[in-house]
Amino acid sequence: MGQPLVYASYPDLADKRVLITGGGTGIGAGIVDAFVKQGAQVFFIDIAAEASKELAESLKGGKHAPVFYHCDLTDLKALSSVIAQIEKDYGAIEVLINNAANDHRHQVQDVTEKYWDDSLAVNLRHQFFCAQAVAPGMKKAGGGVILNFGSISWHLALPDLTLYMTAKAAIEGLTRGLARDLGKDGIRVNCVVPGSVLTPKQKALWHDEEGSQAILASQVLPQTVETEDIAAMVLFLSSDNARRCSGRDYFVDAGWYGA
Ligand SMILES: NC(=O)c1ccc[n+]([C@@H]2O[C@H](COP(=O)([O-])OP(=O)(O)OC[C@H]3O[C@@H](n4cnc5c(N)ncnc54)[C@H](O)[C@@H]3O)[C@@H](O)[C@H]2O)c1
Repeated sequence: MGQPLVYASYPDLADKRVLITGGGTGIGAGIVDAFVKQGAQVFFIDIAAEASKELAESLKGGKHAPVFYHCDLTDLKALSSVIAQIEKDYGAIEVLINNAANDHRHQVQDVTEKYWDDSLAVNLRHQFFCAQAVAPGMKKAGGGVILNFGSISWHLALPDLTLYMTAKAAIEGLTRGLARDLGKDGIRVNCVVPGSVLTPKQKALWHDEEGSQAILASQVLPQTVETEDIAAMVLFLSSDNARRCSGRDYFVDAGWYGA
């Protein structure tokens, strides 16, 4: 853990309507917090009801209280009604952060057709359909920002993550396609690629002390990447300071080159 990060202030993010998927815990919760502190109007979707309600409660003293929507992103009908409801109640979403995922491990021989479908549904499909749902409102408003979440994992070929890495590789292609097709409407689309971020879930499930030290030794900067480091990149890319950035992948991984 390094010194606490002090975020830059982006005046154009104040009052922006920002939708964050998977905002209840982990990196997503850090992004919710960061946008709330910029004075943005934040909406976030998650299935982790308790943690999400606690987060919304803890951040309600700011300019705009964040609003939590309980929704399973793999249920596209429910997702589309939540987005329609937000836009009806508050106005068009101006920034979409496609953050939610699930990096469950598996062995190749254990993957069934259903497991494949479920994995791609939680790691890839909703990113496209969220973008599709918010794009008309952004176009009408003259522009907007969509940030998709990729992962360092497939760049390194990590073990037991074939389906997650399949989805994450596709997200970089999805980003390029959306950036090309929506750019003429003033919509910028980029991909944030985190390295190893030791969220409470990552620590509990996948990383012991020895593994964490091995990752640090493989990074060119031997410091842990924190949730705040990812949120700082998200804020920059969402702001007008990044007005000529689109269709690209932005790594925040402390230069992690080895597996
Ligand atoms: N933590 C890392 O080291 C790391 C590394 C590379 C990439 N990433 C990417 O960064 C993003 C955030 O990572 P994280 O570690 O915080 O993830 P996480 O798994 O800890 O959290 C994701 C959030 O999404 C929610 N979620 C999961 N399935 C959902 C569903 N079906 N419907 C609604 N919400 C759902 C979870 O409840 C959780 O709040 C992900 O896209 C992940 O792939 C993370």
